[in-house]
Amino acid sequence: MISNRAKNISPSETLKISAKAKELAREGASIISLSAGEPDFKTPSHICNAAIEAITDGFHGYTMNTGMPELREAISNKLLLENRMKYDPGQIVLSNGAKQSIGFTLLATINPGDEVIIPAPYWVSYPEMVKMADGSPVIVKTLFENDFKCTPAQLETAITDKTKALILCSPSNPTGSCYTRQELQELALILDKHPDILIISDEIYEYIVFDGEHVSILNAAPHLIDRTVIINGFSKGFAMTGWRLGYMAGPKPIADAVAKIQSQETSAPSSISQKAGLAAYTGSMKAVEEMRKAFSSRRDYIVDALRSIPGVECFKPSGAFYVFPDIHQFFGKTTPVGDKIETSTDLSLYLLESHGVAVVPGDAFGEPNGIRLSYAASMEDLSEAINRISDGLSSLS
Ligand SMILES: Cc1ncc(COP(=O)(O)O)c(C=O)c1O
Repeated sequence: MISNRAKNISPSETLKISAKAKELAREGASIISLSAGEPDFKTPSHICNAAIEAITDGFHGYTMNTGMPELREAISNKLLLENRMKYDPGQIVLSNGAKQSIGFTLLATINPGDEVIIPAPYWVSYPEMVKMADGSPVIVKTLFENDFKCTPAQLETAITDKTKALILCSPSNPTGSCYTRQELQELALILDKHPDILIISDEIYEYIVFDGEHVSILNAAPHLIDRTVIINGFSKGFAMTGWRLGYMAGPKPIADAVAKIQSQETSAPSSISQKAGLAAYTGSMKAVEEMRKAFSSRRDYIVDALRSIPGVECFKPSGAFYVFPDIHQFFGKTTPVGDKIETSTDLSLYLLESHGVAVVPGDAFGEPNGIRLSYAASMEDLSEAINRISDGLSSLS
């Protein structure tokens, strides 16, 4: 009954851990979840009000398949003014979240057997979405010492005659790393030698950067615009995960192909969410800045706290709301009840089941020596979670 395509795909590991944490909490356990990939803030009120107005005004119908013209215009303006990228509204397609924008971009560009380069640790969905498009994910292992960023040499080694695309994610989920302008320029020098490679640049965390401004590959190498698809959305910066609104901006033929696929799969995103998105991109950014500042303080706190736990190594990420410490020094140790910790999954399950803290094992992101902690949680919860992690790790022998 089940297709090979469905059989070949793994379920989202991050959602799996969150589900397990919720199940334990339902059973009455005290669980602090640092596994979620969503801000713990509420959507700013002016955005909610725009959605309420859309409902009361009867804005209930399908919008254009590619999204409301006013919103595509607002996105085009935003990309020009904030990001210095020129994409006409006709090159922009709104979808039900950035996730769908990436999935449809891959379906629109990948032929069977095409290779897509994905630096690891990667966002869990990239390899699975490449597989769903009948492509082959080519995983490039990056190093802790380089804050898990892909080097030009690593990129060059991964390129073959079959390479169709490179997926970049900066700021990164799961590491929080951000590529610098210079690092992106150096990657672009390699891409210049391979003019047929498409760049898919996932910039969903652009508003959550702490050390300087967000830099896109197109800021470092504007000449790549004719073969770059920018992925972005409203989920992270505006705390709008449940609204399901994201977009791709790219070369017109790719945008048209994405629109065609979308027209047969989901039509267009919710009209109400699009009105909310318009308010987000045309209204005050004060709440976004406040959230960014809160994330910045939490980052400083959690990095220092993790570094103070013997055996944990942690670099200071420049963006998103994740830290990705190296915990391999605990492999080979034994829990108080005699279970052996061999992998990051073992360690994460131990921390969840014995100490009530949910983190995501690095295995899920293609990096077995790490775990991902989301600091989209209150300072109180973070501090309690650190105490529990510290207790848990010091109880291993
Ligand atoms: C790197 C990355 N890209 C895309 C997405 C998807 O975002 P959306 O909620 O817009 O589908 C996420 C969400 O976790 C993410 O972490």
